[in-house]
Amino acid sequence: MGPLRVGVVGFGYWGPNLVRNIAKSTETELIVICDGSSVNLEKAKSAYPDVLVCGDVEQMLSEHQIDAVVVASSVPSHFAVARSVILAGKHCFVEKPLTLNSADAEELVRLAAEKDVVLLVDHLLIYHAAVREIKRIIESGELGEVLYLYAQRLNLGKVRTAENAFWSLAPHDVSIALYLLGEEADAVSATGSDFLNKGIQDVVFASLHFPSGKSAHIHVSWLDPHKVRKFTIVGTKKMLVFDDMDPDNKIWIYDKGVGAPDSAMAYGEDLSLRFGEIRIPALKMREPLADVLSHFVSCCRGDAQPESDGVAGLAVVRVLEAVDGSIEQGGTPVQLKRGVGDV
Ligand SMILES: NC(=O)c1ccc[n+]([C@@H]2O[C@H](COP(=O)([O-])OP(=O)(O)OC[C@H]3O[C@@H](n4cnc5c(N)ncnc54)[C@H](O)[C@@H]3O)[C@@H](O)[C@H]2O)c1
Repeated sequence: MGPLRVGVVGFGYWGPNLVRNIAKSTETELIVICDGSSVNLEKAKSAYPDVLVCGDVEQMLSEHQIDAVVVASSVPSHFAVARSVILAGKHCFVEKPLTLNSADAEELVRLAAEKDVVLLVDHLLIYHAAVREIKRIIESGELGEVLYLYAQRLNLGKVRTAENAFWSLAPHDVSIALYLLGEEADAVSATGSDFLNKGIQDVVFASLHFPSGKSAHIHVSWLDPHKVRKFTIVGTKKMLVFDDMDPDNKIWIYDKGVGAPDSAMAYGEDLSLRFGEIRIPALKMREPLADVLSHFVSCCRGDAQPESDGVAGLAVVRVLEAVDGSIEQGGTPVQLKRGVGDV
């Protein structure tokens, strides 16, 4: 079987990273790059002189022999572009977040099923070697039962005006939380503050509640003195920290916990605290983008099911949408639809 023939829509900031991986893989053949901006098309032409370019998605779909399309255009265009791709019967890889609202995401999930094509959303971090290892550690029972987790994604900038800090920064954290806990949230409450541009929250604190009783708390900000990308998971036996800013030691497992009363305890204390050793597992780091694209090829070949399919993309969009709703209502919890039964 020959390589998967791929077209890419969007050659702005992020598209070139996808194009680079598609061009160098032996599993894929980069056929055409499509972008509505003539400036960016010129950049594509000079970087890839042998690849076809085109300025219009419909033209790309009708004129070029392709099996699949990678959508890396700006988020407001995702729905229309992905819809055209799916209706043309092509497999579709969409950058995160899948769409701007859950109704559009539901329609893409429905259309992909109807057309029997792969719909994969690039929730890149669930393909990250550290996140894979954390999932394995949780499933091994080493942490005991996961009680709760929290994520912090903070920095000074990049300040955006088309979307708030949660839409810009949190899709990764939401997708990791849903992936690690293995369930969809059923309610979300959030507060946010718009200091720099009215109506665009620069800092958001969101709490996701799950049917199991677990919770995930996400703090994002582009108005913060620290550059932080950290995930903390508290289990009944151990606690784990994933520090994505640490180039070498990304996962720290703390043998710390609180146990039943200890007879040797000081008067007045009724729980024993345990401070054990710290373990830092070795990780074999790979480029997650190469992994997710290779996984996409396997899915298109029928050899795998997408680990971040349209339903997973829809679940993330539902959370993003509910966070906006809760902020608007001053932090009131918003209930979420779950699963595809509702679609
Ligand atoms: N996975 C990640 O870590 C990650 C990181 C950054 C961006 N992204 C995602 O990548 C996507 C692109 O982001 P970006 O920062 O590159 O945006 P960008 O604005 O820099 O580039 C988008 C490009 O899409 C083109 N475009 C928009 N609508 C189009 C249409 N209908 N037809 C053809 N071309 C069209 C624009 O001309 C532009 O060149 C977004 O979905 C974003 O969320 C993902």
